[in-house]
Amino acid sequence: MAILVTGGAGYIGSHTVLALLERGEDVVVIDNLSNASQESLIRVAELTGKQPVVCIADILDRDALKTLFTQHNITDVIHFAGLKSVSESIAKPLAYYENNVVGTMVLMDEMQRAGVHSLIFSSSATVYGNPESVPLSEQSRTGGTTNPYGTSKLMVEHILRDFSVAEPHFRITCLRYFNPAGAHPSGRLGEDPNGIPNNLVPYISQVAIGKLACLTVFGDDYPTPDGTGVRDYIHVMDLAHGHLAALDHKDDGEAFKAINLGTGVGYSVMDLIKAFEKAAQTKINYRIVGRRTGDVAECWSDSSLARQQLGWQATRNLEEMMRDAWNWQKNNPGGYNA
Ligand code: NAD
Ligand code: WQD
Repeated sequence: MAILVTGGAGYIGSHTVLALLERGEDVVVIDNLSNASQESLIRVAELTGKQPVVCIADILDRDALKTLFTQHNITDVIHFAGLKSVSESIAKPLAYYENNVVGTMVLMDEMQRAGVHSLIFSSSATVYGNPESVPLSEQSRTGGTTNPYGTSKLMVEHILRDFSVAEPHFRITCLRYFNPAGAHPSGRLGEDPNGIPNNLVPYISQVAIGKLACLTVFGDDYPTPDGTGVRDYIHVMDLAHGHLAALDHKDDGEAFKAINLGTGVGYSVMDLIKAFEKAAQTKINYRIVGRRTGDVAECWSDSSLARQQLGWQATRNLEEMMRDAWNWQKNNPGGYNA
């Protein structure tokens, strides 16, 4: 029996593959390496002493999927594969809808043909759009997404919900991640963005290591305690373990579930800068600029449903996230392929 992990060479995927191997699961990865290096999986094997099966292919490639489902006794699919840059999605909407929406539809179709009925999907807090209020619970209104990336995640959730009505024997869990951050504590696995990072923590990390000169803080006039944006940062290893919990509880309840994975605590951009400075023992050069289009003031989770339904909660705090992010950055200044 094996678990198929799409996008398993990527940031969250590689940490989850490690967690799966550590608890003795057999893992098959499919990844087209469009935003990852295979080195991540070589390191996962080094850290765990176990080898995932790795297939370098696209989830849009039906033949590749058919071969995997035929050759391995796959019972569950954890589906990370997709494109994730908000700004790129505005420039290349078709690529985002094709990879994220059509890719998921092809995967579901091939799962159905192969008789594989369990799916965990990487959704995002972005499905809540501009929150009416925080914390965000699964009952909060979804919609009002402001970019094709966010819309693609919401579209997939709708498609999966409709699919689960037609195919009630499927077990589908959409995990709505808040803001993943940090790295494996070994310093061997972490986030390795292409080019200039879009996200806050990799950006701060690259300022700390001297690759980037200055962090631009997008706005200090939000209605938040210090005026900068507030988010729910969650350690990537907590997130990885959230997927294991979702696998363990796939048969509880309905055919379709959507569950937040967050900590339930919000931190501001200034909180992050201070925590990172403490972890790295260095000053982060920053300047305040105007708000970034599409940003919301506050986004943090009510994480009680994950506790109730999955028996899972985040256990790592901001200090550990910043410590591990810095440990990864300083040990791998050029990422995986330096
Ligand atoms: P990532 O880019 O590091 O990982 C995605 C992986 O999928 C990469 O290895 C990439 O090469 C692969 N991939 C992309 N398109 C593919 C395709 N068509 N076929 C095969 N492989 C393909 O991103 P991540 O941060 O690990 O995110 C994983 C998932 O979680 C994504 O679906 C993302 O949208 C979602 N998510 C991420 C965040 C975040 O901030 N990192 C937040 C919420 C949700
Ligand atoms: C966090 C905070 C910025 C960079 C995005 C996607 C979301 C999800 C996670 C996938 C905000 C501020 C950032 C910088 C800054 N991805 N910031 N200077 O925007 O909450 O979420 O990634 O699903 O869909 O939208 O994350 O890390 O970009 O920003 O001041 O250089 O940091 O304004 O307040 P965000 P982020």
